[in-house]
Amino acid sequence: MLTKMNLASRVIDAFQLDYRDRGLLAPLEALGTIYHRYGQSFRPTEEPDCEEAHNDYIDVGIGTYFPTHPAVVEACIRALQAGYTQYLDSAELKEAIVAKLAAENSMTVEPEQILLTGGARTGIIMSALALLNPGDVVLIPDPDYVGLGDCARIAGAEVVRVPMAKVNGAFRFDPQRMVDFALPRTKAIMFCNPNNPTGYLYSRSDLEVIADLAERRNLFIIANELYDRLVFDGGVHISLASFSGMMERTVTIQGLTKIYDMSGLRIGWMVASKSLTRTLADLRMLACQALPPSISQFGGVAALTNPTRDEHVRQVLELYVRIRDMTTEALDGYHGVSCPKPMAGHFALADFSVFGADDVKTALFLKREAHVLTVPGSVWGLCGCGHLRLALANPPAVQAEGLARLRKGTELLAKWSNT
Ligand SMILES: Cc1ncc(COP(=O)(O)O)c(C=O)c1O
Repeated sequence: MLTKMNLASRVIDAFQLDYRDRGLLAPLEALGTIYHRYGQSFRPTEEPDCEEAHNDYIDVGIGTYFPTHPAVVEACIRALQAGYTQYLDSAELKEAIVAKLAAENSMTVEPEQILLTGGARTGIIMSALALLNPGDVVLIPDPDYVGLGDCARIAGAEVVRVPMAKVNGAFRFDPQRMVDFALPRTKAIMFCNPNNPTGYLYSRSDLEVIADLAERRNLFIIANELYDRLVFDGGVHISLASFSGMMERTVTIQGLTKIYDMSGLRIGWMVASKSLTRTLADLRMLACQALPPSISQFGGVAALTNPTRDEHVRQVLELYVRIRDMTTEALDGYHGVSCPKPMAGHFALADFSVFGADDVKTALFLKREAHVLTVPGSVWGLCGCGHLRLALANPPAVQAEGLARLRKGTELLAKWSNT
């Protein structure tokens, strides 16, 4: 059993390792980085304690979310007024998720294969703790969501990053590289589909390679599908666990944080085989009964079952595509920046490497000179160096102002780097 102290130090190590590995820790510390209190990413700032200091900046790195569907808000209020303030593991919500998985993810499961969690992030740490032991190796694409590697390391595993390939300026999964990187100690593959921050949507053939590798090498898969409905241009999201034999070795993580704009309500879930679910359930119980709040569970049912649900998703997607197109059109080709269109998800990843590989420096420059906040791409792995992550979840007027500032800052960067 881990003691409190060594668990804390593992968390700190997991948190810092990526940065130390890349020689980024010192510059980040020197800049006085903070763990931004509204999101989950680092951003360079010289005023770690001064909230007002952010008022003058436009944040295009994380983005604010759109308003939550009124049916969700009403369901939460009604639940509170009706006195649902006790422990709850909602059978109704699990039934709604079973129906969602069948309709949208081609997964046929029973309610006991679903474990509700306080957001997707809780599912990541639970599955890492359940499946990984110290000394195990986990393969994670690079770039990919920073929380995957953090959680694997907290479980004591060693993380090996598998660089994605760049094709026509856009990152895409490299199946052969994943196969080549599998070692005898490899125990699991963790990945986000769609990918944060690149917006890559895994194809059926990508997933077939992962499934085949998992079967041949007896690997577990932790598949984070938090953005499964945020898919653009008629693309189709495919769940790995829907492949024959894959449910037995996969923990699928989904939730309502993104497309339903419910990040603070903390609704996530894990889907796994019955035997794995029993282990995960014990772990969830040990972790302070890490269920979503009771009131939120009613909101979750409303999100998944209200009659205007599909229309809501359609409208949200339309808005995302509009903001995505504004973003890529403003930046792609501007002074050598490349900003390919993401296929899915919440973000675009713009390549600013024409101004050097030090994306922290670039982000800081843009903040200082143009008052626009971005997130350095290296947060998501070495392949993200020289890139900046841009969020698509801003109201169009805010995004337009943010992009205008980014263009102004980029012009200054271009001028200064040529002098
Ligand atoms: C890929 C990915 N997974 C998990 C999370 C965290 O999700 P939640 O807030 O539901 O815990 C995020 C948040 O941005 C994310 O981008």
